[in-house]
Amino acid sequence: LASIEISMSDIPEGQTKTFEWRGKPVFVKHRTKAEIAKEKAVPVADLRHPQHDDERVQKDEWSVVIGVCTHLGCVPIANAGDFGGYYCPCHGSHYDASGRIRKGPAPLNLHVPAYSFKDTTIVIG
Ligand code: FES
Repeated sequence: LASIEISMSDIPEGQTKTFEWRGKPVFVKHRTKAEIAKEKAVPVADLRHPQHDDERVQKDEWSVVIGVCTHLGCVPIANAGDFGGYYCPCHGSHYDASGRIRKGPAPLNLHVPAYSFKDTTIVIG
């Protein structure tokens, strides 16, 4: 499928769900107010791949990323790791709730796919 539609009501606040899009996993995270505040406050200068959360989300409550570790391509585990986002068990990369690399060997943040909001859905692709 070129694009997929995800119903936002299927993902309660605080949860992350995985979808398949063009043969790859996509993580859709419905972030809590605390998670949003935490990610907005991260000093960009401290990051290996410096990106403010604002550059990575369209709506603060929703983070959408490709679930492929930027190290060697394993699929990270959602809602795991030391930074409240994702943990890649292959070699121990930790990503935050914005999908940014925070610890471990991965060089780059998780990729953000093209997506848009349409009514009560998120359209990926
Ligand atoms: Fe994820 Fe190596 S592939 S840490």
